[in-house]
Amino acid sequence: MGRSPSPRIRMQLRSSSMSNEASHSVDDQAFVEISNVTHYYGDVRALRDVSLGVARGEFLSLLGPSGSGKTTLLRILAGIELPRAGAVRIRGRDVTLLPPEARGIGVVFQNYALFPHMSVSANIGYPLQVRRLPKAQIRTRVDELLDLVDLTGYGPRRPSELSGGQQQRVALARALAFHPELLLLDEPFGALDRRLREQLGLAVRLLQRELGVTTIFVTHDQDEAFTMSTRIAVMHEGELMQIAEPTTIYRTPSDIHSARTIGTLNEFQGTVISEPGERVSIRITDGSVHRDTRTHPAELRRGASVSCAVRPEHVRVSHERMGESDFTSTVLAAIEGGGWRRFQVKTAQGLVLMSTASGRSSAVYDGDDAYVGFADNTLMMFDAESGSRLI
Ligand SMILES: Nc1ncnc2c1ncn2[C@@H]1O[C@H](COP(=O)(O)OP(=O)(O)O)[C@@H](O)[C@H]1O
Ligand SMILES: [Mg+2]
Repeated sequence: MGRSPSPRIRMQLRSSSMSNEASHSVDDQAFVEISNVTHYYGDVRALRDVSLGVARGEFLSLLGPSGSGKTTLLRILAGIELPRAGAVRIRGRDVTLLPPEARGIGVVFQNYALFPHMSVSANIGYPLQVRRLPKAQIRTRVDELLDLVDLTGYGPRRPSELSGGQQQRVALARALAFHPELLLLDEPFGALDRRLREQLGLAVRLLQRELGVTTIFVTHDQDEAFTMSTRIAVMHEGELMQIAEPTTIYRTPSDIHSARTIGTLNEFQGTVISEPGERVSIRITDGSVHRDTRTHPAELRRGASVSCAVRPEHVRVSHERMGESDFTSTVLAAIEGGGWRRFQVKTAQGLVLMSTASGRSSAVYDGDDAYVGFADNTLMMFDAESGSRLI
């Protein structure tokens, strides 16, 4: 999908989205509202008390490991699955009990097969045919959609005569056929190679902006989610952990699972050895003590087990001692990038840490002995059991 829609299509798209806007007076913050949704398959709990709101025009990504409930949440939104408890509202209207076709939602599921015996045009026009639109109108709309996904002229072909990426674009065109207000994409490019996925991802994002269609996109690819989303919802074992802008999740994760979901993370375990009011001190499992300048908060219990985490850009490697909690270490690998350096170091006690630094820093090389420390107050601490953020 190398080019943007023709001026003709743009006009039509814009006017149709404008008419949509005129007919809705509902608060943008609650265009889609999922309230306290819980779902089971037999005895298996797939979702637990999930609540979240999606604003009109937003591109929300659901990110989380396999089995965390992403597909189930989309199926409930689409109306394919009835939740055990909770409600789904679209534009303020409770749709929890409505069948899929009454919801005005376009859906592209992972490996969602096209009808193999039908032409590309017939596939794209299928939702319109089901809605009994006049033939001439269907033909016009199908041509618009082929143009939109950059497949002009491919209408007469069979799906088997298209590449995987082209087939997914046909599926996308079909999902957009009846001007849905909400588009649900469940790992739509999961089966494609990385380069094609990036290309299609970008195309979808541009198209989504052009159409202004509110989109919920399921992926387990953090880079994809990071670059495409207005916000990311992190799912873990059927629960919503955090929903926020990508950089917020990266910088201020609410829990260890959200922290792990985006970016590289150094992790180790420790025990709190300070008292409330003192400076925070942690005895790391390797025996060393980390002390920083933050004050031990009242809710942190002395003796509590904590999961500690620090981003690579906050790990400093140097021949000079930088702070009282520095580790002595050996540089396992120093990797030169353009304008940055990356180090893998191993502390004397056996902790392996990743560090990234901007180009000018650290004349430290493979095999060197060096000090390793964390920039001031950058060590995140999470409850070892619940994973929730402590400090
Ligand atoms: N049809 C099903 N029958 C039984 N269990 C299911 C079914 N679909 C999903 N599950 C279970 O529900 C949980 C959530 O699955 P799913 O929503 O598919 O997660 P994700 O899309 O994040 O990989 C998992 O434990 C999964 O095994
Ligand atoms: Mg899934």
